[in-house]
Order: sequence, then structure tokens, then C-alpha cells
Amino acid sequence: MDTFQQINKPVYVLEEQRLRNNLSLISEVARTGGIDIILAFKAYALWKTFPIFREYIRATTASSLSEAKLALLEFGSKAHTFSPAYTDYEIDEIAHCSSHLTFNSLSQYQRYHQRVRQANSEISLGIRINPEYSEIETDLYNPCAPGTRFGVSADKLPEILPEDIEGFHCHCHCENGSDVFQRTLTHIEDKFAKWFPQIKWINFGGGHLMTRKDYDIPLLIQILTDFKKKYPNLHVILEPGSAFGWQTGSLVSQVVDVVEDKGIKTAILNVSFTCHMPDCLEMPYWPSVRNAKVIEGRYDKSIPYLYRLGGNSCLSGDFMESWQFDHELQIGENIIFEDMLHYTTVKTNMFNGITHPSIGIVHLNGELEILKDFGYEDYRDRMD
Ligand SMILES: Cc1ncc(COP(=O)(O)O)c(C=O)c1O
Repeated sequence: MDTFQQINKPVYVLEEQRLRNNLSLISEVARTGGIDIILAFKAYALWKTFPIFREYIRATTASSLSEAKLALLEFGSKAHTFSPAYTDYEIDEIAHCSSHLTFNSLSQYQRYHQRVRQANSEISLGIRINPEYSEIETDLYNPCAPGTRFGVSADKLPEILPEDIEGFHCHCHCENGSDVFQRTLTHIEDKFAKWFPQIKWINFGGGHLMTRKDYDIPLLIQILTDFKKKYPNLHVILEPGSAFGWQTGSLVSQVVDVVEDKGIKTAILNVSFTCHMPDCLEMPYWPSVRNAKVIEGRYDKSIPYLYRLGGNSCLSGDFMESWQFDHELQIGENIIFEDMLHYTTVKTNMFNGITHPSIGIVHLNGELEILKDFGYEDYRDRMD
């Protein structure tokens, strides 16, 4: 496997071939299932690659004014927008940039629905529902946990929906398989099917990880086909993010120093977990490192070539352990974190002013093009 010898600074490297593989699988599912699958910008928003996406999909989903603008101005079609709470100072522009707009609550609907339709008479409005069922085990990512701030539960929804509500939106998956969707759907139907004759579309959110190797695609198609037969008036939308960026590239970094304390060796890198791979600390989630083995549990000094990998920020907890290599790590050597495209470049920060990794793409002919380098001005301009 490529160890990117030619790279000597940190770069997120997107591989076009892998991206196209995901896109063609996703567009085939959409076609066979007779649904729309749209890209969630919250997971992936590298807009210079949107021309590639446009070959496979038609629309995107936004969760803020900036994402909605990106949809219209850079992707070239209006967004399906959901935000937990719209504001007086942004709602008109969001409405202008959106083809579909979902309200999180009935109070937000009351406050803004007329204004939204004034700003965009073509827009289709929806309401987020809370099915009160989710198999997500990590609370940080569970939108259906008791006390959730997301969506309206069935007991709070009026028998007759407001006349201009045309769709339901729910999101209750995270990196899940189609078996989870199947079980979740029974809860959604039990609670909300009585309203289905009143709406035109239903968006089952993100978290459908259809590009993962073991994902059961035939089951997904079956679920979608059965659903369509039962409710022919409903157009189905899925809005995954991770599935598009899944295993499409890596973060290439370099060893800058190796330090040791109490027998624990840390290779300090020119990237940071907290700045450039934040989900690793949040989830927590142990990334694969190319040509190294994750060793779980406490650091075991007796294992040869075992290293913690440490970030270059001053946060004490900016490290993860442990990986076993097959040699002693050398200064300047590449450390390659796999699958670092989704939920990274959209979430990174410039804490400590640490230089942000560049963003590059390996084209189909094997050539690496750097799409963006970051420098002092990027750090300064965020705060000017
Ligand atoms: C409303 C909504 N839609 C879509 C997504 C995308 O989910 P994923 O990237 O897991 O597919 C999320 C993720 O949090 C979400 O909250």
C-alpha cells in the first residue's frame, strides 16, 4: 500500500477512485430503490470535488445558512435544510437557498412558516419527528435519548397536520446497517403512519452506512420497495454523510519527535487529534494506522515498537494509544491515519494556531493535486 513517500507535510489525501466507487454504489441504490439519496454536508463538504458528485447525485442537505449557501452556490442546487433552530437574522436567506426546509418543533414552524414561504414560494416544508427509538449506543450521537432536543414526538403532533407541512424528517441512525433501519422503521410506522396520507415525502436522515463492506444492500432495497408499495404517495429521501466519504482517504502525517516517560514511548506528530481528528477523542474512536496494529488496553512496555501517537497541541489529552509498528519509528517518517475524510475537514479547528493539514486529491491517473494549503492568514482571518 502507498506510504506517500513524496509527501513530507500533513495532508488529507482524498482518493478519487474510492470516492467514485462510493458514489456509484450510492447512486445505484437510489436508482434501484426509487428514492433520492443526498449528501449531508455536515460530514463532507469539500466543494472542489462537487463536480464529481454531480455526476452521480442531484442534491445535498444543509444544517446552517453557510451549508445552504454552499448547496446553491457551489453544488448548484437548492438544499434540503434542517436546523434545530432557525433565527430571525438568517431564516429568509436560508429559505431562498432551500428546496425543502424542515422545522424541528411546532413553535419554530409557527414562528417562521409564513416568512419562509414568502421568501421562497416553491419551498416544501417538513417537520422533524422523534420516533423515540434508536439503536445508537453512544449518547453523544443519539438524537432519540430521553430529553432530546430533536423532533416532535407522536403524542405532541396534531391529528391534522398544518396545511403547508408536506414532509416528515427523522434522523436516528449512526453508522448503522439496514437491519437497524428495518427495526427502526417498524417504530416509525407504529407511531407515525397515521399521518402518512397527509404528507408527500419522508426523509429518513443519515447514518445509513451503505458503503461499508458488510452493509446488507439487498435488504435496504427490499425495505424501500416494501415501503413504497405500502405508501405509494410518499417520496423517500436518505441523507447520509459518512457513507459518501467512507474510506475514501487518509490523513498523512509525519513523526516530529519521540519522547519517553515511565517507559511509555510517544511519537509526537505534526497533526493533532483534538484539532484534526476530533471524533477520535469525542467518540472515542481508534483510527487504523497504515502498517501498524492497534493494541487495546493499557500501554504494555514489554511489547516491541509500541507507541502512543501524540498530537502537537498543548492539550495534555491530545494523544491516543497504542499502535505497534514493525520497526523503531524515525523522525520524518509518515504515519498514515486511514479513513480520515468524513467528519474531519468539516470539523477541524485552529487551536494553538497549529498549521492545518493541506487537502489533496489523488486523481484517477495517480497524480496528487493539492487543493488547499493553509497558512498564517487562515488562522488570523478567523478572528479578524
Ligand atoms: C439530521 C442529520 N442528517 C444527516 C446526518 C448525516 O449522518 P451520517 O454522516 O452519519 O450519515 C446527520 C448526522 O448527524 C444528521 O444529524
